[in-house]
Amino acid sequence: MSAPLRTHSAARGRPATATSSQVAFPSVLTVGIIGAGRVGATLGAALAAAGHRVVAASGASGASQARLALLLPTVSRRSVVEVARAATDLLLITVPDDALAGVVADLTADGALRPGQVVAHTSGAHGLAVLAPVGTAGARPLALHPAMTFAGTPDDLGRLPGVSYGVTAPAELRPLAARLVVDLGGVPEWIVEADRPLYHAALAHGANHLVTLVNEAADWLRDAGVGQPEKVLAPLLRAALENALRLGDEALTGPVSRGDAGTVRRHLARLAATAPDSVEPYLVLARRTAERAVASGRLRPADATALLGVLDGYGSQVAA
Ligand SMILES: NC(=O)c1ccc[n+]([C@@H]2O[C@H](COP(=O)([O-])OP(=O)(O)OC[C@H]3O[C@@H](n4cnc5c(N)ncnc54)[C@H](OP(=O)(O)O)[C@@H]3O)[C@@H](O)[C@H]2O)c1
Repeated sequence: MSAPLRTHSAARGRPATATSSQVAFPSVLTVGIIGAGRVGATLGAALAAAGHRVVAASGASGASQARLALLLPTVSRRSVVEVARAATDLLLITVPDDALAGVVADLTADGALRPGQVVAHTSGAHGLAVLAPVGTAGARPLALHPAMTFAGTPDDLGRLPGVSYGVTAPAELRPLAARLVVDLGGVPEWIVEADRPLYHAALAHGANHLVTLVNEAADWLRDAGVGQPEKVLAPLLRAALENALRLGDEALTGPVSRGDAGTVRRHLARLAATAPDSVEPYLVLARRTAERAVASGRLRPADATALLGVLDGYGSQVAA
């Protein structure tokens, strides 16, 4: 396995810990992974590298079996129920979001869980509610979402140090959750149950819609005759991202920040001819950009008037 974590074998040299309600967890946890997917195989390998005992994992497809062979070669592949029974301390359920409730219901109905066992998932949108049935078996729920993208290759391990984890945990599990995140080389962010969808929407909006924006921009450049759009975009977009992360709304440049209504009108006229499906998203983002520019003092309200007029005019055409 490549890219060993700086937390390697952290678990072994540490005394067992007790939480505030005096539930003791061994320093070396016995762990099972339901779903040797992109996340499950990677976090399993990282927990093993940190000194925990990963004893079993499930996954039927060829892709899951290949990931197990690559990232957890000594871990036995077992059925879902067998994994749950073998994972005496920590059961990590890393299945797709929509499959979570069904897996939890099946495990509970099959009597596969045990009192005190921690049952964790890695979904960003779900919190503890989806794990509520595990409480009937005396098991403890934990939501532990890595704010990172995973491909399920050894390269993922090298990206884990410094990653934030959106954690929702009952009070008595917080010390264990913090310890697990540290073992993974990460940083916990405590998210309350009701804020979980907002937390996940923020990450999806920032990371996923960014991919759409970049690809739209690349398509428009190609339409403008640019042979290698990524070469044009890479330095510009990297600088814009770094500035936005460092300076917030102060990082904004471009025609909207200047209230340059004529330039924005020309953009829209050409987009309507070349990429009509992109007009509406451009209008929505330009309007939001103008609102934020005014609110942050980058654009004076008086200078925004003509620009907002252009956006409203095109908006009515799109709606008509
Ligand atoms: N990928 C990411 O970048 C990322 C990042 C952060 C969080 N997450 C979260 O992590 C979780 C897993 O995502 P992923 O991308 O790792 O998924 P994935 O690569 O598609 O892997 C899913 C795994 O779950 C298994 N599985 C699917 N349905 C199942 C079921 N009904 N019962 C038992 N096992 C089942 C699959 O087995 P087979 O291969 O045999 O079908 C596979 O091993 C999700 O909650 C996701 O939101 C993902």
